[in-house]
Amino acid sequence: MEKILVIGAAGQIGSDLVLALRAVHGNENVFATDLRSASNEVMETGPFQLLDVMDDKRLIHFIIRNRITQIYHLAAVLSGNAERLPLQAWDINMRSLLNILEIAREVPEVTKVFWPSSIAVFGPTTPRHNTPQLTIMEPNTVYGISKQAGERWCEYYRNKFKVDVRSLRYPGLISYKAEAGGG
Ligand SMILES: NC(=O)c1ccc[n+]([C@@H]2O[C@H](COP(=O)([O-])OP(=O)(O)OC[C@H]3O[C@@H](n4cnc5c(N)ncnc54)[C@H](O)[C@@H]3O)[C@@H](O)[C@H]2O)c1
Repeated sequence: MEKILVIGAAGQIGSDLVLALRAVHGNENVFATDLRSASNEVMETGPFQLLDVMDDKRLIHFIIRNRITQIYHLAAVLSGNAERLPLQAWDINMRSLLNILEIAREVPEVTKVFWPSSIAVFGPTTPRHNTPQLTIMEPNTVYGISKQAGERWCEYYRNKFKVDVRSLRYPGLISYKAEAGGG
């Protein structure tokens, strides 16, 4: 049975994803965490805890104590906010991902990591029509640069340490439940 940790569960994607995962895996098996309170639905239908993904010691204790097998890492500073606080955004986006990848490398029970990337990895020099998967990528935002670097780190942990980490490049998502988180 999978035990799933969702980090950033109060955000736009987490608000829906936690409920969808609970419907598939059982309410008690999907642990929602965030720096702030989540929606009533997320907090009342299963486990919820305040947890800072930057606190690697608490994070690894949480993961071991709850026998977590899959991690969805959704916590990030999104594009608009990252342009206002570029150094903090870089620090949070990269350090949090590296914390998760290190834990996945060290804790054998963690078998899958999911981490969303973004079309922000593309830049002004990327072909605009029928954009290929592998193409020129010269992102010109802090957010885009952090996603591109994150993709490379995920690939590195996959190749070097066999960490099973999966990622999709999302476009700007819209939602009727949660507000966009500063994208
Ligand atoms: N929403 C989109 O359109 C979109 C598009 C492409 C990629 N993505 C990616 O998907 C992921 C989730 O996006 P979202 O739209 O749900 O973002 P969001 O901003 O709505 O939610 C992010 C959540 O992370 C939490 N968070 C921030 N710092 C944290 C920390 N230190 N510890 C724990 N939680 C923390 C925030 O409180 C927030 O609830 C991000 O990686 C984002 O880059 C989103």
